[in-house]
Amino acid sequence: MTDISNENRSAPTTKNLPLRIEGISKHFDGVVAIKHFDLQVRPGEIVALVGDNGAGKSTLVKIISGLFPPSAGQIYLNGEQVTFKDASDARGKGVEVVYQDLALVDNQPVYMNMFLGRELVRGPLRILDRKTMAQRTQTMIDELDVRIPSPRSNIKALSGGQRQGIAIARATHYAKGLVLMDEPTAALGVAETAKVEETILKLKARGAAVLIVSHNLDQVFRIADTVTVLRRGTQVATRALADTSRNEIVSYITGLAS
Ligand SMILES: Nc1ncnc2c1ncn2[C@@H]1O[C@H](COP(=O)(O)OP(=O)(O)O)[C@@H](O)[C@H]1O
Ligand SMILES: [Mg+2]
Repeated sequence: MTDISNENRSAPTTKNLPLRIEGISKHFDGVVAIKHFDLQVRPGEIVALVGDNGAGKSTLVKIISGLFPPSAGQIYLNGEQVTFKDASDARGKGVEVVYQDLALVDNQPVYMNMFLGRELVRGPLRILDRKTMAQRTQTMIDELDVRIPSPRSNIKALSGGQRQGIAIARATHYAKGLVLMDEPTAALGVAETAKVEETILKLKARGAAVLIVSHNLDQVFRIADTVTVLRRGTQVATRALADTSRNEIVSYITGLAS
């Protein structure tokens, strides 16, 4: 019989990674979107998930962020197997996501966006504690060196890069070591993208585990440590960036190699 306590004590450290997924599959009404996908993300590691349109990248992110239940497979956060009832359940367990289309509220100040759904209130009348939210927002954005005029600035007055910086600072603040990003720079220009990539590298330097979907291979080679390729729902390769080339990755994406 297996001695579970002993097994735990001697478990290799790979068992306690910020994210480990095993055998994840997803079907939509009989259509296979993901087939038996395995992945590990270590602290301070940026893993890029690449593949053509419809390969299943967003579906995978949605599974890890609690939006879709997997049809099969397991998700482990810090070594513990988890199942998510929904996205807010996943958030409560420390999974934060940054999307391409920014989930920010336009006509509100930055600090309200930082505390969206988690607003701080004070007193018996539960009045919004704007001062504390603004102060904490300043700290949150300072930590990642995101430059904005003020936590009280209106979101719609900011550039795309500044907004994405805020979305990343928010995700980082609430995440417990793992941040998922689905095409976070797809809507941004070159300079804004560079700024967001800097922010992502700061996250890495702080030891966060980052899983980023990107269709920009230059970006993948600039910032990621590991790349994994999906083709029509099948994971066709996982490589350290140091051990691969752009050509090899392109051939996996297009199906010229397998
Ligand atoms: N909610 C859904 N219902 C049915 N099919 C879906 C749904 N979401 C995604 N799909 C299908 O799953 C496949 C993968 O989609 P997606 O994960 O969005 O790809 P990617 O992000 O790599 O472009 C596609 O064939 C898509 O049509
Ligand atoms: Mg997608």
